[in-house]
Amino acid sequence: MDEKLLKDAASVLRGSKNVVVLTGAGISAESGIPTFRGKDGWWKRYRAEELATPEAFRRDPKLVWEWYNYRREIIHSKKPNRAHIILSKWENEGKFENFTIITQNVDGLHMRSGSKNVLCLHGDIWKVRCTGCYREEYNFDVPLKEIPPRCSNCNSLLRPGVVWFGESLPQFELERSFRELERCDLLIVIGTSGIVYPAASMPQYAKSHGSKIIEINIEKTPITNYAHIFLKGKAGEILPLLDGEIS
Ligand code: OAD
Repeated sequence: MDEKLLKDAASVLRGSKNVVVLTGAGISAESGIPTFRGKDGWWKRYRAEELATPEAFRRDPKLVWEWYNYRREIIHSKKPNRAHIILSKWENEGKFENFTIITQNVDGLHMRSGSKNVLCLHGDIWKVRCTGCYREEYNFDVPLKEIPPRCSNCNSLLRPGVVWFGESLPQFELERSFRELERCDLLIVIGTSGIVYPAASMPQYAKSHGSKIIEINIEKTPITNYAHIFLKGKAGEILPLLDGEIS
């Protein structure tokens, strides 16, 4: 890790009041949860069109649910890592006036580590939604009791409470995200390949509203081109170093 870059990042962080953190699958990699596009990523082994679209679900709900059941089993067996824990510490110690996490992850690890102000852009793998009566509820069964699961209210098929390709993002989360990005002094982007929209547009949006951008990733992304500071490395190693600098 470049000491000077780390110190520069710490100095920006120390001087910021409104901080937003945008996270992707890379922040959960050190917990042992596969990313989507990495070497052993989901989309290297499976086709997104067969598992993560409304058409795929209509075609074969059992196959889609088997995949989600499998992912739920993996996530259930894992724990938040040091990166999640430091973000939750910053929020809960009130280090900044405003501290918001915008996550593309559906694994719930930010909430499990104690973060509260979390906007889940792509939904939550622990939620299920009825395709008949639209009732949404948490379901923490691992494994699921039946596949595909059915609604206890109207017996229609349940679907995972996540956003699939081709679907709109939840309006509340999306609007709040853009409001926070408009007023933040600093956006820290952690572990996202920066190619899935609209999340991928958020760093540029924040920068155009005057925010500084710090990116943490093990490799360069399209965001690196315009980030003010790029910290190359694992989130679970860099965040403790940053925390050490500002504590
Ligand atoms: P990706 O799998 O596309 O990207 C993961 C990023 O994390 C890559 O840029 C890696 O270099 C980086 N990374 C891996 N390990 C890391 C570590 N230990 N520390 C820091 N960075 C690390 O995942 P996302 O960008 O989250 O959407 O993908 C965005 C969306 O595409 C997902 O939410 C999902 C997916 O298809 C839907 O399913 C709708």
